[in-house]
Amino acid sequence: MTTELIHPIQSLSGPLELPGDKSISHRYAMLAALADGTSELRNFAAAQDCHSTLGCMKALGAEVKVEGTTVKVTGRGLHGLKSSWRALDAENSGTTIRLLSGILSGQNFTTKISGDASLQKRPMKRVVAPLRQMGADIRAKDDNFPPLEIHGGKLRAIHYEMPMASAQVKSAVLLAGLYAEGVTQVTEPAKTRDHTELALEEFGAQIEKKGRTIAIHGMPANNGKAALRAKSLDVPGDLSSAVFFIAAASMFPESNLYIANVGLNPTRSAILDLFQQMGAAISVLNLQAKQGELIGDLAVKGANLKGGRISGELVPLLIDELPMLAALGPYTEQGIEIHDAQELRVKESDRIAALAENLKRMGAKVEEFPDGLKVEGRGAGQLRGAEIDPRGDHRIAMAFSVAGLGASSDTKILDAGCAGVSFPTFFQELRRLAGDSYQ
Ligand code: S3P
Repeated sequence: MTTELIHPIQSLSGPLELPGDKSISHRYAMLAALADGTSELRNFAAAQDCHSTLGCMKALGAEVKVEGTTVKVTGRGLHGLKSSWRALDAENSGTTIRLLSGILSGQNFTTKISGDASLQKRPMKRVVAPLRQMGADIRAKDDNFPPLEIHGGKLRAIHYEMPMASAQVKSAVLLAGLYAEGVTQVTEPAKTRDHTELALEEFGAQIEKKGRTIAIHGMPANNGKAALRAKSLDVPGDLSSAVFFIAAASMFPESNLYIANVGLNPTRSAILDLFQQMGAAISVLNLQAKQGELIGDLAVKGANLKGGRISGELVPLLIDELPMLAALGPYTEQGIEIHDAQELRVKESDRIAALAENLKRMGAKVEEFPDGLKVEGRGAGQLRGAEIDPRGDHRIAMAFSVAGLGASSDTKILDAGCAGVSFPTFFQELRRLAGDSYQ
């Protein structure tokens, strides 16, 4: 178990390039494995989660070559995956197991898929239910948890009204829809990230969008034109990783950070609007559209952050950024209050509990709710260094590393290696950008 010691700093400055977006990398890896030919995926995520996906696609017969940050995937064709002789291991990755469940439901073989101790506690009923409606036979522990045993086969198209706003559920149904006879539709109760729809279009699937409904035309085996085509794609830098550095730079007046090539897809960038509303000094430069995704550079300076309240339809649009926002609360004028975010309790850890416990250890004033928390602002006093238990959750480890930068003494992050699940070079980059101000 690696421990990282975080020292207080005075500013965070310099240029930063981020590893590829985790969400997009998962989707490109899966679709490349289903395409005909060899796809070249540049700036593929360094995140361990995405390498878990690559491992699964390899076990299903795709050829995967990792050359630095470029990944070459030779697909088996939409109907060419082969059954894996061993159970697939999604490790810590919810996206891997939930999205792959959709694909595996359309195969004419049975697959077992599981993951680490954290993943085995995460609910799967949300994907199992619609996939059963489409005709897949899926067994799960207590009918909800991994390991999943997926007996795939012929699928029928459905119109699924999602009971929850989840990009993973939407994606599982759309990916299964690739294999169904007819047009599969998914209606979401609130907008969620749309990388699956965009990636499916890039690889040649037929997608239609109307309001909150997304439709996919099935390409079952009896359809002669059933093919996805290999692509050469650049993965934009991961905005959800950028957010830790945006928060850190914003905390110190002298900061001057420049982040190049960040993914700014509107279903992900609500966090930037929120930061700007809170008074952050962020400029967006060189905005361009690339392969369906928006991409740009961010210049960030120190600012006096006001704080704010996050609830309702905003929550699914910045769900992964909530740990950083909450941990930033004590550095804002009015603090941060979060509601309607009960989903945080079933992420890589119970993030609401992990945030409340560790913030209190640092001396913050926190109130915990079933669906969120309230963190008092600067008036409640400066944070003090503490020992942080991230509960094996990458985003908790990184959020508290940033909170520690402005504390009155050193902060010890236990099991800091878990940051590698999304951002293996996080601590290196933090030390580099803190430069001389990092004692
Ligand atoms: C993700 C969707 C979100 C997010 C997760 C990645 C994705 O989960 O929290 O980190 O890539 O589709 P939900 O869709 O379950 O909210």
